[in-house]
Amino acid sequence: MLIFLDTANIDEIREAASLGVISGVTTNPSLVSKEATADYETVVKAICSIVSGSVSAEVLAEDAESMVEEARVKASWAPNVTVKIPITADGLKATSTLSKENIKINMTLCFSVNQALLAARAGAAYVSPFVGRLDDIGHDGMELVSDIVEMYGYYELPTKVIAASIRHTLHCVTAARAGADIATVPYKVLMQMINHPLTDTGIARFLEDWRRVSQ
Ligand code: G3P
Repeated sequence: MLIFLDTANIDEIREAASLGVISGVTTNPSLVSKEATADYETVVKAICSIVSGSVSAEVLAEDAESMVEEARVKASWAPNVTVKIPITADGLKATSTLSKENIKINMTLCFSVNQALLAARAGAAYVSPFVGRLDDIGHDGMELVSDIVEMYGYYELPTKVIAASIRHTLHCVTAARAGADIATVPYKVLMQMINHPLTDTGIARFLEDWRRVSQ
């Protein structure tokens, strides 16, 4: 499973990229709006200068024609931009057009197997089931990830599954178990994935034992 970072914060992206473990970044309008420079183009170009893998930038238009125009502009910002489009009827129309132009689309706000099937049929490169938001309303978000992975497997659909709306480290474990191609994780969760108290106490013991013989 690849790890993407789910943030538009440049400092977080720089720090995470220095670990050498992230393969892409996902943004959305809410994440970009939190940054000091909430200019989508500036933020995405800055991210693309740090990360060479897929960087998702979301369209704000709601009708298919405007989505297509906006997506073409966003895709021209950098060679590694993936355009994020919500799964609606207009989103599917736009995705069908854009995928034929070899523009990579991440179909977002996916909450059902049917939506994921349609995203794949429209030619989306990625689909993003939102795990945490399903958990929030008492559904099992990771079950959806697992069902989509299974369904894509049956029909050999090439669309990659991004487990999104990840809220904690256990989501990363269960996404990997469910066979997600990618988990896109907030910076805080990425940092928590590194930690284990036994690693810390193990290092302390090694150093203490070594100090004893080297004094
Ligand atoms: O990857 C999608 C993500 O940004 C949404 O997360 O926590 O707002 O549901 P959340």
